[in-house]
Amino acid sequence: MTHTDLRKRFIRFFTSSPRNHKEIPSAPLVPENDPTVLFITAGMHPLVPYLMGETHPLGKRLVDVQKSMRTDDIEEVGDLRHFTFFEMLGNWSLGDYFKKEAISWSFEFLTSSKWLHLDPSKIYISVFEGDSDALRDDESIGFWQEAFEKVGIEAKVGNPKDGMTPGGRIFPYPKSKNWWGPAGTTGPCGPDTEMFFDTGLSMHNSETYGPVCHINCDCGRFVEIWNDVFMQYNKKPDGNFEPLQQKNVDTGMGMERLTAILEWLEGKIPDPDPFRTELFNPVTETINKVYFQKYGGENTKSLRIIADHIRAAVFIISDGVVPSNKERGYVLRKLIRRAVRHLQLIGVKNPFISPLAMAMIETYKSDYPELSQNKKLIKETMEQEETKFLATLSRGLKEIEKHSILTGKIAFDIYQSYGFPWEMTAEIAHEKGQQIDRAQFETEFKKHQELSRTATKGVFKGGLQDHSETTTSLHTATHLLQEALREILGNHVRQKGSHITAERLRFDFSHPAKMTPEEIKKTEDLVNAQIKKNLPVSMKVIDLKEAANEGALTVPGVNYPEKVKVYTIGNFSREVCGGPHVDFTGKMGTFKIIKEEAASANVRRVYAILTI
Ligand code: ALA
Repeated sequence: MTHTDLRKRFIRFFTSSPRNHKEIPSAPLVPENDPTVLFITAGMHPLVPYLMGETHPLGKRLVDVQKSMRTDDIEEVGDLRHFTFFEMLGNWSLGDYFKKEAISWSFEFLTSSKWLHLDPSKIYISVFEGDSDALRDDESIGFWQEAFEKVGIEAKVGNPKDGMTPGGRIFPYPKSKNWWGPAGTTGPCGPDTEMFFDTGLSMHNSETYGPVCHINCDCGRFVEIWNDVFMQYNKKPDGNFEPLQQKNVDTGMGMERLTAILEWLEGKIPDPDPFRTELFNPVTETINKVYFQKYGGENTKSLRIIADHIRAAVFIISDGVVPSNKERGYVLRKLIRRAVRHLQLIGVKNPFISPLAMAMIETYKSDYPELSQNKKLIKETMEQEETKFLATLSRGLKEIEKHSILTGKIAFDIYQSYGFPWEMTAEIAHEKGQQIDRAQFETEFKKHQELSRTATKGVFKGGLQDHSETTTSLHTATHLLQEALREILGNHVRQKGSHITAERLRFDFSHPAKMTPEEIKKTEDLVNAQIKKNLPVSMKVIDLKEAANEGALTVPGVNYPEKVKVYTIGNFSREVCGGPHVDFTGKMGTFKIIKEEAASANVRRVYAILTI
C-alpha cells in the first residue's frame, strides 16, 4: 500500500455505507480569521465553529486529511516522534454518533482484513481514568471490550503502574494523557481514548524510562497511532465542566506513524521509522545522491531535521507564507535556516536545498496538487532565503566562536546581525555543553519586534478562536470592509489574507497602490454607513457553483467543499465563509482604519478597529 492508497482507504472507509461520512478538503495551513494560532495545529481547528454548534453545509458526519503544523516542539525534531508539519486523518461526528460507533469503526478500520488488517492482539488502548471533574470513561472501556471480544480477545483493564500484566489491554490514565481540550481556556472538551500498536521491540531500560514499560512509555515499543476524542463537556470560565448540548467525536490518526508501522510490517523498511518511509525516502535519497550522506549513519539526527524542515517549508510556502522576521514568516525562516545549518553540520560545504524541496513536491503532488502549481514559487523562495542566510552564516558562526559563554543577549545580537534564529544559537550552545537563557533573548526580541500582545501571549502556544462578541463583530466588519474597498478602489480588490485578534482586524487585499487619505476616509464612511443601517446578516447553505452564480466572493486559492455557507449582509455584501457573524450590524460600534501599508508586491494591508 502506498501513502496515497492509505489516505484514499481511510476516506473510502468512512464515506462508505453504513458510515456515510462526507469528505471535506484540507483547510490551508494558515488559519482564516483565527486570532490565536499561527498555523492549523490539528484537524479540529478549522472545524471549531461546527463543534460549537454551527451547522456544517455537508452534514453531521465528516472525514478529512488535514495538513497540520506544530512549532512548539521544533527543538525536539530529530527523534522518531516529533514533526513540525504532519497530516492528520480524521472522522467527525457533529452531534451525531458517539462513543459506540467511533470505537467500533476505529477497531474495524485498523483490524479488518478489508481495511488495514493489523493484528488485533498488537493493539492496546488508553482511556481516561476519572477525577473530580469527570468520571472514569467506563463507557469507552465497555465498547472496547466488546470489540476485542468479537475477535476472541479478552481485554482486561490494567494499571499502567504495574506495566504489561497478563491480559491487560485497556489502561486508564489521567487528564494529562487522556483528555483533549479545551485548546483555549474555555470551550468543548472531553475524555479521549488512544490506540497504540505494540511493535514488540524491546527498547526499555529503567534508568531512562522508569521502572516498568507501559503503553505511554517513551521507549518506543508502543506507537500511538490514533486518538478518538469525545467532546461531551464544556469548560466554563469558572473552571467547572458542564455537559455539552451537542456531543461530538473528533479523531486524529497520525499519517507518519501509521505509514511507518505499515511499511515495517510489509517488510519494506527495517524498523518502524517514519523517516525511512516513502513519505521521506525521496528526500533522504536525494541527500544521499547530491551530498553522499546515507540515512542511518551518525548524522541521522541532522538528516531527520533537514527532511522535516524542508517538508514543512514546502507546505507553508505553498499556503502563502513568505520568509520574514515576524510570526509565520519567521517560522518559515527558521525552518529553512535550520535545514541549511544542519546540511553544513554534516559536512556539506555548499548547501543547495531546492533539489530537496523538489523531491518533497514529487512525493506529495498527487495528494496536494497545490504543490505543483506553486513549484516555481517554492523553489525561488527557498533559494533566495538560502542565499541570504549563507551570506552571513559563516560570519555569524565566527562571531559565536569568540564568546566562551553564550548568553540570551548575545543570541539576540547574533540574530539581529546575522539572522540566526534562537533555536540555532541555542543548539550551538548545547553542543558546547552550555545552557542559554531564553527569557533574556525574548526580552530583547520583544523590545525590537512589534509583536502584538496576542502574538506573544497566545499565538505561539496555540489555542482556539475566541468567539467573543468583539471578534465576531470584527469578522463581520472584515466583510463590510472588503465590499467597501471594492466599491471605492475597484472590483480588482480580493481578499489575500485576514487575521483577527481581540483588539483589531487585519485585512490583506490585492491593490497596486498606496491608499490615499481620501480613499481611507471614504472606505471608513461606507463601512460605518452599513453599520448604522443595522443590516441583517443571513446565512444559507448552497452548492459552491450556485454561490459563484450569485456572485458570492470567495478567497482566491482556497479549496472549498461542494456545499458552502454564504453570508449576506443586507444588500451590501455576499461572501462564502464559515462564520460566525453578528445577526445585525447595528451594535458593532464605529469602524476605524488605523494603519494602511504594503503587505507584499501589489498587496496592501489594512489594520482596523471597532470603537464603542
Ligand atoms: N484533536 C485530536 C488530536 O489532535 C484528535 O489528537
